[in-house]
Amino acid sequence: MNSTLRLTAAISLASLLPLSALAADSKGSVEVVHWWTSGGEKAAVDVLKAQVEKDGFTWKDGAVAGGGGATAMTVLKSRAVAGNPPGIAQIKGPDIQDWASTGLLDSDVLKDVAKAENWDGLLEKKVADTVKFEGDYVAVPVNIHRVNWLWINPEVFKKAGIAKPPTTLDEFYAAAEKLKAAGFIPLAHGGQPWQDSTVFEAVVLSVMGADGYKKAMVDLDNATLTGPQMVKALTELKKIATYMDADGKGQDWNLEAAKVINGKAGMQVMGDWAKSEWTLAKKVAGQDYQCVPFPGTDKAFTYNIDSLVVFKQKDAGTSAGQQDIAKVVMGQDFQKLFSSNKGSIPVRKDMLADMAGHGFDACAQTSAKDFLADAQTGGLQPSMAHNMATNLAVQGAFFDVVTNYINDPKADPADAAKKLGAAIQAAQ
Ligand code: BGC
Repeated sequence: MNSTLRLTAAISLASLLPLSALAADSKGSVEVVHWWTSGGEKAAVDVLKAQVEKDGFTWKDGAVAGGGGATAMTVLKSRAVAGNPPGIAQIKGPDIQDWASTGLLDSDVLKDVAKAENWDGLLEKKVADTVKFEGDYVAVPVNIHRVNWLWINPEVFKKAGIAKPPTTLDEFYAAAEKLKAAGFIPLAHGGQPWQDSTVFEAVVLSVMGADGYKKAMVDLDNATLTGPQMVKALTELKKIATYMDADGKGQDWNLEAAKVINGKAGMQVMGDWAKSEWTLAKKVAGQDYQCVPFPGTDKAFTYNIDSLVVFKQKDAGTSAGQQDIAKVVMGQDFQKLFSSNKGSIPVRKDMLADMAGHGFDACAQTSAKDFLADAQTGGLQPSMAHNMATNLAVQGAFFDVVTNYINDPKADPADAAKKLGAAIQAAQ
């Protein structure tokens, strides 16, 4: 059974069960399920909550802790099965299509807002297509994250005698050796599956380029998944793993980010939500910290679009709140404030084209420039680790093989590539 069918079967039970009553108030109340729970993420989502409450709606916070969103997705599925989905939930990529085909998403509620606010004109086609189902918007895109970043504490680099950020894997290893010799943790890393795969996909991009990445992660081409380039990527991954924080097993990403911020570690491979933690600590991009593309990936951009889907609700009053949230989210003020706090870049083309004019910092300006350039060259690729490239079943197969491989000191890269091919085939 594919993931859509599994989801549909589970959810068909939903109609048999009663909906819980929503709190009544003057303009209506909307529950929003999301996983923005680190200090920096919370500061970002609080911007939305404040505006929606200012507009007279009640925001019911459905925050579910756990970076990358796996726990939030589990909660969401059981809520849907119980016939009680929230009005709005953070869901991304192809998973949106799976949810929409269950019939649980509302394809009417955003029609007027999207038309009145000219979403089709404001969004890159790739972004709009992600949040549409059969031509209608079923979600509002919130922001664009770049995943293939390396975060650096320049003060720590200086103390370890490293002259400049690494631009190749060999330079990365040389820097990591110096950091180790000087007593620092070379690479802050929380050993949770989604974090392991965040590093894995960056290495695949570095070794195989954007075309190879696409064949492996998007097309799921078996020859590429099991071929010599993948074996090379897995070999490099193993080497990188030797520099990962020895105390990082099971750690949250933001606790690992804190080690770089506090000068205990030199680097972290993480999407630019990591910037939210630097911003919260009052650190300035380009001065207190550096963001550089993961070595060997400067011509590519793995994207991750956060979006909020709208679920059908029995209480018609909820739609006004859903529409208000969608309208606020696509507005320039919110796009600026949220992304500044969150570390991302706006989804609006007019803002992406003038990032300096909108007061965005050096990291965000680089990100927007690369996003627009890579959209023309094929360098723009969806992140597998962040639910943009495949459905969750296939992503789960990647996660299992990659995390087992990283954690098994005896694991052989050629064998792991074979396992990867088999696991991905089985999951489709
Ligand atoms: C989400 C980000 C979030 C990060 C860490 C990613 O998958 O897209 O919005 O900050 O996970 O939780």
